[in-house]
Amino acid sequence: PAIPCPGEMFGSARRNSSGCDLTDPTILEPLLGRLSVLETKRWTAGQGTGPRTAVTSPFNHDLVVGEAIEATTADIDAMLRRAAAAQQGWDLAGGEARARLLDRTADLFEERREDFYSLCIREAGKALPDAILEVREAVDFLRYYAAEARRLFTGAHRLPGPTGETNELRLHGRGVWTCISPWNFPLAIFTGPVAAALAAGNTAIAKPAEQTPLIGALAIRLMHEAGIPEDVVHLAVGDGKVGAALTAHPLTAGVAFTGSTAVAKAINRTLAERDGPIVPLIAETGGQNAMIVDSSALPEQVTRDVVASAFQSAGQRCSALRVLFVQEDVADTMVTMIKGAMEALTIGDPRVPTTDVGPVIDADAKASLDAHVAEMRAAGQVAATLALPAGSEKGSFVAPVIAELPDLSALTDEHFGPILHVIRWKAGELGKVIDQVNATGYGLTLGLQSRIDTVHAEVQARARVGNLYVNRNQIGAVVESQPFGGEGLSGTGPKAGGPHYVARFATERVTCVDT
Ligand code: SER
Repeated sequence: PAIPCPGEMFGSARRNSSGCDLTDPTILEPLLGRLSVLETKRWTAGQGTGPRTAVTSPFNHDLVVGEAIEATTADIDAMLRRAAAAQQGWDLAGGEARARLLDRTADLFEERREDFYSLCIREAGKALPDAILEVREAVDFLRYYAAEARRLFTGAHRLPGPTGETNELRLHGRGVWTCISPWNFPLAIFTGPVAAALAAGNTAIAKPAEQTPLIGALAIRLMHEAGIPEDVVHLAVGDGKVGAALTAHPLTAGVAFTGSTAVAKAINRTLAERDGPIVPLIAETGGQNAMIVDSSALPEQVTRDVVASAFQSAGQRCSALRVLFVQEDVADTMVTMIKGAMEALTIGDPRVPTTDVGPVIDADAKASLDAHVAEMRAAGQVAATLALPAGSEKGSFVAPVIAELPDLSALTDEHFGPILHVIRWKAGELGKVIDQVNATGYGLTLGLQSRIDTVHAEVQARARVGNLYVNRNQIGAVVESQPFGGEGLSGTGPKAGGPHYVARFATERVTCVDT
């Protein structure tokens, strides 16, 4: 049986807990024992007829976790046709029937959580606490969108009208949604959009990131085991070519995409130019997330929150802190404290429970982050970094870095890893800092550390960001409590885990009856 984890309250977006207590050896040790047994398990993703490739681990590129079978164009066409044929029946089954199957899927995710932990660690390089949070977030999405299916898709919504006329609005699925997800939340962000599409009466094709197909494959298998028909939800394994074939197909009736801003724009172009209906795109994309710290902030709290926001998950969260704007009066103290805390982090094998910072996802990600750090080092901007541990060359590790920049002008791209850029600002220039943050064009997360109410009010009123976090870290949005998503270059909305999300996967139909 799965090890009980006190404090672990899966499946309740209303009762999120602080998670499994990994400092308790009576919990941790048996859990590690079971994970070491799962180490040898090999997985397969995909039933396509395309090429087969080995899926390897980011912390050791020689370690094979399983095999991915790519979907060909013919496979993609066949799955879209089957999904399109199944859609009306799934839609007419109603919100309650769909909700029950999503809740059942959540139960199975909880039951199989240790398989997911093992895969999140080995396939995605996640540290154990991140793997635990990942499963809980996926379960929360399933249960929350199940509740949304019941709320929005049970019967008709009566609308006003004169005597003798009945007006009713009903929500229906649009058809087949293509859901393209990223490797950084290979279970939670894979599951969320698929669950929302299904809740809304659509069928779905789920395309996991090419780096993490095995986690997606297990998620789809459990959806089928829960009773969601095989024709209703399909797995399409492969790289960007598979995503492009799915979005270009005339049977795709909507696209939910999480990934880069450039790819979101390419999908928009494809949807505009292809044959077939005009369909929506829901995109969650990049960020250039800042935290603003003024001289009233509490240094110990800033230190803890900056380290978590910038370096947890090796900085590979869409929400992660990239640019710390610190008021110059307190900047020396803050930077010294943050450096000290960063130097206490342990980098290494994510299977070891004391590891704080695991690998980045692959060799390409490492090369691009290393090139950025080398440029900053040449400009004399690197203020602190850590040494990589022995043996780290087997995987794709990037040591956390703190760099001081004169301003934001050199930071045109998002650097998706454990790299914190620090910029100092002068007292009285808060307005200019907010202008700089807005001028990036991104608008995902923003942290604010200040004890001054008027500063909170000014930042809240003027910052164009989706998620503002005050006097805390800026990662780990909780389903239902902090609906997540940005604006501008960061995405289209609606927010994942929020009250407007599921409805955007549906179409509205009104019936007016003259009685
Ligand atoms: N939803 C995640 C978080 O809040 C980011 O992708 O950290």
